[in-house]
Amino acid sequence: MTSTIGQRAGLDAIPAYRQGAAPKSVDGLAPFKLSSNENPYPPLPSVVEAVAGAVSGIHLYPSMSADSLAAAIAERWGITAANIAFGAGSVEVASQIIHAVTNPGDQVMFAWRSFEAYPILATVAGAEPQPVPLAPDGGHDLQAMADAVTPRTRAIFVCNPNNPTGAVLSASAVEQFLEAVPSDVLVVIDEAYLHFNDHPETAVGVDLFRKHSNVVVLHTFSKAYGLAGLRLGYAIGAPELVSALRKVAVPFAVTALAQEAGLASLKAEKELQERIDVLIRERQRVYSGLLDAGLPVRPSGANFLWLDSGIHTGDLARLFEDNAISVRVFPAEGIRVSVGTAEANSRVLAIARQAARLLLRQH
Ligand SMILES: Cc1ncc(COP(=O)(O)O)c(C=O)c1O
Repeated sequence: MTSTIGQRAGLDAIPAYRQGAAPKSVDGLAPFKLSSNENPYPPLPSVVEAVAGAVSGIHLYPSMSADSLAAAIAERWGITAANIAFGAGSVEVASQIIHAVTNPGDQVMFAWRSFEAYPILATVAGAEPQPVPLAPDGGHDLQAMADAVTPRTRAIFVCNPNNPTGAVLSASAVEQFLEAVPSDVLVVIDEAYLHFNDHPETAVGVDLFRKHSNVVVLHTFSKAYGLAGLRLGYAIGAPELVSALRKVAVPFAVTALAQEAGLASLKAEKELQERIDVLIRERQRVYSGLLDAGLPVRPSGANFLWLDSGIHTGDLARLFEDNAISVRVFPAEGIRVSVGTAEANSRVLAIARQAARLLLRQH
């Protein structure tokens, strides 16, 4: 039966967020999901224990202020709890930011292509997305972004490293950008992949936040900390902005289980760092192997790599699919491959060698 309930005008024009695809099952091959930039490692035993300990309290609402976790994050970054706003994943915090700073018709700028949720969140909030094309090397074109600011631009998302291209922004480039942007425009530094970013000259969100009152930083527990399934992210911002974010947040969206897991993860950072170091080494191994195979891969500061495969994207995507690996496919544009376990990554390299032969045949 067709619903007779009316929908809000314009909803048809908003694309639904696409979740990373599951791998196809192929006889004799273990499947690997490399389509969502997830951490391939299971949670640490200490994190599982903390979550299990909190389960007996799930008949109660969680703390909305998440005091213990806020105190731990404040100590970790040398800030105060008044600088921290939580959400069910950093994507929810990004949504809070847009709701808190835009009026209907205001503009939200971001590089494009970047995190696919930005235009969706902006449109859902009643704002107008303002995409600015990436530079040819897959990095933000910060000059073009500064030039594109209008009196209606209220927030600018800067994704460092950029999803899906992996490009890293230098501290000097972002400083220069912040000088050029009006101080009443909020600049959101989205650092979802911060822990994988070992670039020596990278911009560091917290440093920028300390110097510029219009900077807010987004962090997540989904990637390096491996808590994607529990949904925990936060903003680091000025207390006035943080108060506004708390007003527009969905009440109780951050569960007690997520809070306990976050706390336990901060306590286990040394152990988690060992895993991060392995993933960074694996990223380098895959990057070198893809380059050696002759594929158009970009340097990356994140836990994924971008293949600039253009018109060959469909053929390449099929090869991954037929080898039981799911990747993020952007038709006629490119493919984003997450860094997984060594076994998954070795299969990616084998596919790359096959792909190189296929692409050579086509030329
Ligand atoms: C750049 C970027 N920001 C934010 C997020 C949101 O992550 P989460 O909501 O799991 O914290 C993602 C997830 O893929 C991302 O790539």
